Amino acid sequence: MPIVSWKDEYSVGITKIDDEHKKLIAMIDEAHDYVESQPSSDAVKKLLADMENYAISHFDTEEAYMKVYDYPDTKGHKAEHATFLERVRAGDVNFADDTFVPGTVKILSFLADWLVTHILGSDKQFGDFLMEKGAK
Ligand SMILES: [Fe+2]
Ligand SMILES: [Fe+2]
Repeated sequence: MPIVSWKDEYSVGITKIDDEHKKLIAMIDEAHDYVESQPSSDAVKKLLADMENYAISHFDTEEAYMKVYDYPDTKGHKAEHATFLERVRAGDVNFADDTFVPGTVKILSFLADWLVTHILGSDKQFGDFLMEKGAK
């Protein structure tokens, strides 16, 4: 069962950003399915690493828009991205012992909640700003 699903209300109005958010949500769900059905630490570790890389490239996308459009809250928004990456990296510690399944599920739930909260708050605010500036 997915722990997070895309909803139209998550749209920030910029297609490229929405598409990347959809992909991140799908990656969280994929890792969640995996950890529940085939708790192999190597496979889950790889999914977390892929998620981290994808998140980095997504944050680069948003931060490039911030630069181009001189977004006033760039600093605060970037700090939120940095927190997300710290949490993804913290996932690694769960592979050191045999309780990594509940540990990883907990991390994935945190990431899912974080992502939805970030999209509905900071990213939507940013999306409104971009749309006002005529960004696509
Ligand atoms: Fe985002
Ligand atoms: Fe963001």
